[in-house]
Amino acid sequence: MAKGFYVSKVLAIVGILFSVAAVATIIALAVVYSQEKTKNDEQPKPTEGTHSTAATTSTLGTHSTAATTSTLLTTTTQPNELWNKPRLPKSLIPHHYNLKLQPYLEKNNDNLYIFKGESTVFFKCIQTTNLVLIHSKNLNYTTSNESHAILKEEATGREMTLLKTWLEVSTQYLVVQAAENLQTGQEYSLSTMFTGELKDDLAGFYRSEYVEDNIVKVIATTQMQAPDARKSFPCFDEPAMKATFNITLTYKPQYVALSNMPSISNSSITENNQTWTVTQFGKTPKMSTYLLAFIVSEFDSIEERNGEPQVQIWGRKKAITVEDHGRYALNVTRPILKFLESYYNTSYPLPKSDQIALPDFSAGAMENWGLVTYRETALLYDPLVSSIGNKERVVTVIAHELAHQWFGNLVTIRWWNDLWLNEGFASYVEYLGADFAEPTWHIKDLIVLNDVHRVMAVDALASSHPLTSKEEDVNTPAEISELFDSITYSKGASVIRMLAEFLTEELFIKGLASYLKAFSYDNTVYNDLWDHLQMAMDDQTSVNLPLSIKQIMDTWVLQMGFPMVTINTLTGVITQKHFLLDPDSKVTRPSEFNYTWIVPLTYTKNGAEQQSYWLKGVSETNNTFKTSGGEWLLANINVTGYYRVNYDDGNWGKIIDQLETDHSAIPVINRAQIIDDAFNLARAKHILTTRALDTTLFLAKDVEYMPWQAALGSLNYFTQMFDRTEVYGPMQKYMKQQVTPLFAHFKNLTKTWTVRPESLTEQYNEVNAISTACAYGIPECAELTSGLFSNWMQTGNNLIHPNLRSTIYCNAVAQGGEAEWNFAWDMLNKSDIAQEADKLRSALSCTKVPWILNRLLEYSLDSSKIRRQDTVSTISSITSNVIGQSLSWDFIRANWKKIFDLFGASSFSFGNLIERVSRRFASDFELQQLEQFKLDNQETGFGTATRALEQAIERTKTNIRWVTENKESVRLWFESEIKP
Ligand SMILES: *[C@@H]1O[C@H](CO)[C@@H](O)[C@H](O)[C@H]1NC(C)=O
Ligand SMILES: *[C@@H]1O[C@H](CO)[C@@H](O)[C@H](O)[C@H]1NC(C)=O
Ligand SMILES: *[C@@H]1O[C@H](CO)[C@@H](O)[C@H](O)[C@H]1NC(C)=O
Ligand SMILES: [Zn+2]
Repeated sequence: MAKGFYVSKVLAIVGILFSVAAVATIIALAVVYSQEKTKNDEQPKPTEGTHSTAATTSTLGTHSTAATTSTLLTTTTQPNELWNKPRLPKSLIPHHYNLKLQPYLEKNNDNLYIFKGESTVFFKCIQTTNLVLIHSKNLNYTTSNESHAILKEEATGREMTLLKTWLEVSTQYLVVQAAENLQTGQEYSLSTMFTGELKDDLAGFYRSEYVEDNIVKVIATTQMQAPDARKSFPCFDEPAMKATFNITLTYKPQYVALSNMPSISNSSITENNQTWTVTQFGKTPKMSTYLLAFIVSEFDSIEERNGEPQVQIWGRKKAITVEDHGRYALNVTRPILKFLESYYNTSYPLPKSDQIALPDFSAGAMENWGLVTYRETALLYDPLVSSIGNKERVVTVIAHELAHQWFGNLVTIRWWNDLWLNEGFASYVEYLGADFAEPTWHIKDLIVLNDVHRVMAVDALASSHPLTSKEEDVNTPAEISELFDSITYSKGASVIRMLAEFLTEELFIKGLASYLKAFSYDNTVYNDLWDHLQMAMDDQTSVNLPLSIKQIMDTWVLQMGFPMVTINTLTGVITQKHFLLDPDSKVTRPSEFNYTWIVPLTYTKNGAEQQSYWLKGVSETNNTFKTSGGEWLLANINVTGYYRVNYDDGNWGKIIDQLETDHSAIPVINRAQIIDDAFNLARAKHILTTRALDTTLFLAKDVEYMPWQAALGSLNYFTQMFDRTEVYGPMQKYMKQQVTPLFAHFKNLTKTWTVRPESLTEQYNEVNAISTACAYGIPECAELTSGLFSNWMQTGNNLIHPNLRSTIYCNAVAQGGEAEWNFAWDMLNKSDIAQEADKLRSALSCTKVPWILNRLLEYSLDSSKIRRQDTVSTISSITSNVIGQSLSWDFIRANWKKIFDLFGASSFSFGNLIERVSRRFASDFELQQLEQFKLDNQETGFGTATRALEQAIERTKTNIRWVTENKESVRLWFESEIKP
């Protein structure tokens, strides 16, 4: 699945004006996207003491005939029965399913959308048992024998007598108890008929709706990962239970039906005088249930006919056929598939690859084998309205999902505890695939900002966790869902990239191809990959490692966090220490390596040829790290390693001097690293805050995106802490001075803002230049944004480039008054493009006029003005505005009960509201207010914001300490760096 946090990147770019907090946002977002996965999952109900009458009753009313002998009732009350355990026993192994599904896309007499199904699963008994346990969730059984299922012995075709069948709701099983034992080595089949509801719950076989030409259209589609295939048919729903599938879909003729494989035959049937089309799909290869997909819709597609496999892009008719928004996806899909075939040295395993854009989809995208599903914003691209960031998202998400078609789908993890290998790998390879499709973008560099630095902020907390989990700790659907977090995705990607770098790409892809070959259509644990990489390693002599791949990698995957490597260039002493952002935090989680890592260190002196060194101990001394005279040493070249670097203060000074005299002597990625490391080391009190500020001096001469982005991210915290204090005046002057040359550079490059720069990062940095220049008061920037906006107001023609819209709208509304605000409000109400509406809505919160902000706060609770789904984000964006912050804090306190009743119980973004409104809190008075707020609302409660409130109180205390310690020196530093 694709991670859902790309949204925050766009925010970070446009949000400079009102400062998107680096660390706090990242943590909040990490929480959001794991919850985004789980929010629709029903929590498993508490285990019922006995499953006898109540629990066994299916819709049939009567279940298995011989259901209640007294011996059975006594055995069934024991909690350690197999059906009370969430993991399947190993006694039965499925190898094939015949599955027929018929979705009804009109409501039935009970006002429900339903589907009917029929399934037979063929399996082998490898350990004698009389129990068949098969996953089943929210299905009603209609099997003709008045039991839930028919069990047959394959050799003879004989139907076996059943003692009893029932649904074990808490563990999501259909339980079939046979009157005799199934014999080791024998084949059996289990047949069922069932119905289920097509809910709009984004899980299993579900319903999605959209409006086209004023008509509501209904789609039946699937999201099986992690364990929801069981919601569409009874199945052995674990990734290692691979089988082949013959799928048949029955649907009304106006629809099209898709599944993992191409269709092989069509026929029709009549039911209640209505004709239905029956499509049979080709038999799938051996695969896991979580990768199945079936979709019935009125969608259209565009196709590229040259070559194998067949590639199609699907979506709403209007988006695909009329507007052609699938074109970009179609143009990049085949090149990415070709790249991956050669990268993996394995051909694409299926005859076709469909990509389909769904209007309602909870994750970013899902890698179903041969039929990948996406959010519309992750697949469709409109050159007239979408920004370059939207385009980057499309190509990286496609590359991510296609990377899984081999790594994940052809070779699959045995159990979910190894999810990090699957997702970390795809999150790394997505950059390689996207780079192949867009070679001019240098997109591979961005992994450092988007994944490495981002996840380090989370992984530097004492509350982090290791990449790996023990198999026995991951059992229930809730435990599986928790694994989908930023550690899994971004740290996974970071350590796999580090491994690929120290092995060299040549050896990495050699071992990878051997792994894919050895385990095709099968399952693995992460050590299997290490083994195959080790074989590639042992086959050659040019690359040498100090220890085995497993020994090295264990230190990165079995313990949380990462090291700070400190190099003393005077003494040659090099040490490592677990890096914790909060120096007062206590680590309670033990580590078998005592938080020591095997670190692949790379470094250069004065930019000379790169050297490498393996740091194995806590402290080592080596003369190679000594420098002489003006020579500087820089480590972790291009941030290929997952660690931060600290130096003796003299070396810091020499690096900063080099940056100021000629920053191009230091690679661009390392210019971003120096800033990000320095500010984080300062927060953790390893270096002075003013030393960190020194690393921003050279920006007056640098026009590259990565260092600017790193600095703006780091300085957000300063803005929050100081934008209501006397420090802000000097800070503003300093920032204006630094950004003036950048603004001029882009003015020149874009021929006074009329053409866009060519490269991806230049386009991002143009947006940074404008938003930073406007935020820190460059008059020409204000003229630019108001000019473009008032031109739109006067002519009714919006000529503002999509890249610049967020920042132009926001700044024009900030500089304007009621007229500009009202215009944006009107345009919002007229817009039917979600991306555009979002940009306008967030611009409304940029005004500096208090009464308008208060009115917007009132609107946010009026669903005729602001849709419910946008209430929380509207209030949140008002809190980011320095003027709106106190207004929204008052508003939240005054309306807490009402807001809580609307969102407190369920909304997963609710915690963000408390996090955002308290972000600037850094005084004793604000701490008291927060504590009073907690007291005043004990009765109403805080629901899903409970943890956020506790964290807000903690963070306010940390902020108070930080401001006390740093305010004076920071003010003096800014003042001393302002040039007259
Ligand atoms: C399944 O049975 C339950 C309980 O009788 C009923 O409420 C539900 O509507 C049924 N679902 C379908 C799809 O028939
Ligand atoms: C089916 O259609 C036929 C002919 O049009 C009609 O005579 C019959 O009553 C219909 N049956 C139902 C169940 O609607
Ligand atoms: C599955 O479908 C294939 C055709 O694709 C057919 O040859 C095979 O017999 C089917 N398997 C079963 C068990 O029905
Ligand atoms: Zn994924």
